Amino acid sequence: MSGAVQLWCAVVRVLPQHTSRVYGAAVAPTLLLASNRGPASFTDGTDGDPVVRPGGGGLVSALSGVNGTSDALWVCAALTDADRRGVRRHPRRLPVEAPTAVRMLDVDPVVFDRAYNDVANSTLWFVSHLLYATPSEPVFDALSRRAWEDYRSYDAAFADALAEEAAPGATVLVQDYHLSLTPRQLRARRDDVRIGHFTHTPWAPPEYFCLLPDGMAREVLLGLLGADAVGFLSRRWADAFVDCCVAVLGAQRVDGGVRCEGRTTRVDVHPLGVDAAELRARAARADVRDRVAALRELAGDRQVVLRVDRTELSKNIVRGLLAYRELLVTRPEWHRRVVHVALAYPSRHDLPAYREYTGAVQRVAREINSEFGTEGWQPVVLEVRDDYARSLASFVVADVLLVNPLRDGMNLVAKEGPVLSERGLSLVLSREAGAADELADDAFVVNPFDVSATAEALHEALRQPPDERRARTDRLADAATRLPPSSWLAAQRAALAHPSH
Ligand code: G6P
Repeated sequence: MSGAVQLWCAVVRVLPQHTSRVYGAAVAPTLLLASNRGPASFTDGTDGDPVVRPGGGGLVSALSGVNGTSDALWVCAALTDADRRGVRRHPRRLPVEAPTAVRMLDVDPVVFDRAYNDVANSTLWFVSHLLYATPSEPVFDALSRRAWEDYRSYDAAFADALAEEAAPGATVLVQDYHLSLTPRQLRARRDDVRIGHFTHTPWAPPEYFCLLPDGMAREVLLGLLGADAVGFLSRRWADAFVDCCVAVLGAQRVDGGVRCEGRTTRVDVHPLGVDAAELRARAARADVRDRVAALRELAGDRQVVLRVDRTELSKNIVRGLLAYRELLVTRPEWHRRVVHVALAYPSRHDLPAYREYTGAVQRVAREINSEFGTEGWQPVVLEVRDDYARSLASFVVADVLLVNPLRDGMNLVAKEGPVLSERGLSLVLSREAGAADELADDAFVVNPFDVSATAEALHEALRQPPDERRARTDRLADAATRLPPSSWLAAQRAALAHPSH
């Protein structure tokens, strides 16, 4: 279970299965959230009936800031067959209680598969994270065009539901690359609502964005510009978006935004942070404390180099392991004095590239262990089972935290680690993570492609004096908590209160 799921557990309450009370059904919502993955999902119960449970994903964590807002509605998609069975039983509202009512959309599974796997995760995600090996990919052919049509109708299903539900003049916050066409589609249906769109990924520079077929590139940009305000996690991604609008659409760069087809869209930066009090309260619970004790026993008097990631191509786990290997080769003084705990949880396993990547991570970890391991010392402890409590526990005990993505919208791990660290930790951070904007001053900043430089940064991090480590960790924690989810959400709503028409 991901961190976000656990966070959400704290705020969503599931109602009894056969309840007659349906939360939020009677009120036309004035605040609507739209995201692919929602705050709840279904599993099949023992009697075959679908059972609703809190669901998750990085977005859910961010949007937990909506907690406490009345008459809010969260619109999300059915992701699995169990979700589809559940939603047929609860088509208008899921049986969950505050902070928001939830409506799940029953999108045709074939349409969903092409929109989510082929377009969102295999195309738009790859473009924004610069993941293509361009000599052989991408290839845009007739199948891609068909998938694009499905993506369009998937986004339109959200626009339809939002248009149908929103109270007059409501605020609608559309999230992420799954729903880039929805703002414009919604505007065509409901001109009275205020529309925001937030991108949680990086944005590609124009020369890379233009790998997309011209029509798709235009549609994505115009789709977002249908919003009154668009938001990004870093100035770098916001600037790249505006550059793309200028290069592809011939749009005009204006103060605070971009002007196209007679409308101005605000472009803002809201660098999402973490909620220290909530995170620390969660980490104080017994399941986390048990795991803290187990990890301390595992480490003994060795320093712990930690990483915590989804097994995601952009997270650069293999190069991270290679850097650790190079450290052991070039700095043998660390043998038996360090252990690398690598928590790499399953992700997007419908995509063959992700399954292969998981295999590569496991292979390299095995190789390091057989090359360097000795009686009583296993250099890498790789864990591929999702265990949120253990992730939190590992932040508590880590001495060095390695966060080396190729490219990342923000990276909340880099922010959670310093907040939970008990003795202080040294952060080795990729300069390509949005989090580097705020954390670089107190981190060891690396080029994620440079394995040798990463190995050297690990060495420096491991030998950072305890006092300096502690002082830097405190400053990192301050920076990490500057814009917790509630303030992040409030900032987006405030931006919509002052659109720049
Ligand atoms: C990460 C990204 C988000 C994205 C989410 C989707 O958390 O930062 O931008 O929405 O992945 O993940 P999923 O598991 O739903 O494909």
